[in-house]
Amino acid sequence: MQQIVIHDKKFIPYLSEKEIQGRIVELAAAINQDYSGKNPLFIAILNGSFMFAADLFKAITIEAEICFIKLASYKGTSSSGQVITAIGLDADLINRDVIIIEDIVDTGKTLNEFLPKLQHQQPASLKIVALLHKPEAAKFPIRIDYTGFTIPNRFVVGYGLDYDGLGRNLKEIYQLG
Ligand code: IMP
Repeated sequence: MQQIVIHDKKFIPYLSEKEIQGRIVELAAAINQDYSGKNPLFIAILNGSFMFAADLFKAITIEAEICFIKLASYKGTSSSGQVITAIGLDADLINRDVIIIEDIVDTGKTLNEFLPKLQHQQPASLKIVALLHKPEAAKFPIRIDYTGFTIPNRFVVGYGLDYDGLGRNLKEIYQLG
């Protein structure tokens, strides 16, 4: 892997395809074991998680379902300002074992606002699998149940993650140089 340039910035290799795929196999093995006989519903949050979701789901060997949603935020009338809604969440979550698939948890803001909305639908359980976690960037407390890699607070790109629209197609993950 070599240094790459995207738009105006240089990125250096950080996680290889082999490291990513190896870790995904481990995450899937843990989920296969924990959810054996349960038919969990995976909810992948687009855009960033599409590649991770596909590879993770291929390694799931138990009975399982998946759906893909997009989160949109708009100015609400509440004092908190922004309101997050899920586009494409048509599955019934009641009594389901739900596993959210995220590409990266950065400040935790997105999930902090979105999780209570899911809880409201009374799933039997609600867990999170995130490929990347930047604990140093945390502003909102999020408990991640299955973490791929804990990484420093530096911008990363590749494997579904973009920098201003580009870089999602990279098989590896690069860090801002
Ligand atoms: P949070 O709400 O701050 O946790 O941010 C979550 C979202 O921000 C992720 O799902 C990503 O889409 C985006 N994001 C956060 N950090 C990065 C990064 O280093 N590279 C690319 N996207 C990022």
